[in-house]
Amino acid sequence: MTGHMKKERYTKSDFLSLISDSANKFKLLNKNSFIKIIGHIDCDGISSTSIIVKALEREDFRFSVMNVKQLDKNILDEILKDDFDVLFFLDLGSENIKDIEKKTNKTVFILDHHRFESSETKITVVNPTIFDLEYREISSSGVCYLFAKCLNEGNKDLAHLALAGAMGDMQEKNGFIGLNSLILKDAEEILDVNIGPRFFGMQTRPINKVLEYCTDPFIPNVTGSSEGAIKFLDDLGINARESNGNFKKLIELDEEDIKKITSGIIINRLNEENPEDIFGNHYILKEEENGTPLKDLKEFATLLNAVGRFGKTSLGISLCLKNEEAKKESMEVLSSYKSEIVEMLTWFNENKDSFMSNGKIIINAKDNIKDTMIGTLASIITKSKLYEDGTVIFAMAHKENDEIKISARVSGNSDFDLRSALKDVVLKIGDYPCGGHKSACGASIPKDKEEEFIKAISEINTILQ
Ligand code: C5P
Repeated sequence: MTGHMKKERYTKSDFLSLISDSANKFKLLNKNSFIKIIGHIDCDGISSTSIIVKALEREDFRFSVMNVKQLDKNILDEILKDDFDVLFFLDLGSENIKDIEKKTNKTVFILDHHRFESSETKITVVNPTIFDLEYREISSSGVCYLFAKCLNEGNKDLAHLALAGAMGDMQEKNGFIGLNSLILKDAEEILDVNIGPRFFGMQTRPINKVLEYCTDPFIPNVTGSSEGAIKFLDDLGINARESNGNFKKLIELDEEDIKKITSGIIINRLNEENPEDIFGNHYILKEEENGTPLKDLKEFATLLNAVGRFGKTSLGISLCLKNEEAKKESMEVLSSYKSEIVEMLTWFNENKDSFMSNGKIIINAKDNIKDTMIGTLASIITKSKLYEDGTVIFAMAHKENDEIKISARVSGNSDFDLRSALKDVVLKIGDYPCGGHKSACGASIPKDKEEEFIKAISEINTILQ
């Protein structure tokens, strides 16, 4: 919306009109315009970029692509040095509207879902937070998808990418809601939705590892215990092992054995609040081969996060655009990503007793964890049920330059506005990049502000009145 003001009340149709008005504005562009696309590096950013790349290809535009970890003043200056007619910011940019407007008078589109302080602007900003849509209703990839669909109905074949982006941003919880569920309808020809145990890695991991790493649902004596998972499977007396003694993948088991596993889990959980709450949706890509991380949309989203965290976003885009070569290379990245996660969790477990401070978890990993992985650690901990709902987690890691990357999360269901709390703290320290969503946000500060920052976050009151 150009010159938008914050709406008082959310209406889905207002937001859809904004998308179609913005697409109409795009249609007026001269076909010789050169477009520069700047996308974020995470799963939602890569999916958004892929959708817009495909849509621009179909419209016969010339373009270049760049993905960045965050948009700060220096990166913006670098971007603006290039020659282009139109800029697209995908899954970032909303926080930087004033700077962008100050520094360029070229045509700019921002397709994003991060919160920002809305004000009059001539930039075309398509962001659901203007309408106070709920976080889980749509991601940046969803925004890009609906925009692309307004340009050409043929872009419906990209609907699954919009859902992968939404999954990467944890918007799927036993189903999609809002505009994401409309996008799911568009994806019906591409996806099968199967209900099954809510396990991650059914396509690719041996069943003992699937159960050992399963935190949601939590399985007493199995989750987090390698021996426990093996004993659980062996005690069921099912045909879960290969001839060489290794465990099979879940998709290789027959239905009867899967039923025995699910009922075994429910029995193990009898002391939990909802023992039978172990099922969820699996979004299975019809065209993909069984047994690969491309088959199940949740595993695909993890794969996109992995390539992004390893600085290989163009590989991610190639994967989204179904490049066969990219599949092989991405498997190697995925395996390095998994090893990094295991190392990171080992470090976390060895040190976790020292992180609690004044009701918050403050993890200062310094050089022990890569700045590109610290957000993944914070997210895993948030989902692990290790801390009670509403616990605020700050995770920090040193970057290669003189900065510290901060990832902040709130665990479970909470109305606490962590983004604005973090923003207040960062603003007190200086004018540094900071932003995100209410319960998942991040920032970057100079290393010499480390102590000051830790003191300030320790003093934040996270208890809602
Ligand atoms: O980097 P991390 O995973 O912790 O980021 C959480 C969320 O906060 C992401 O959506 C990211 O785009 C956003 N963020 C931001 N500005 C920053 C750092 C993170 O908008 N400087």
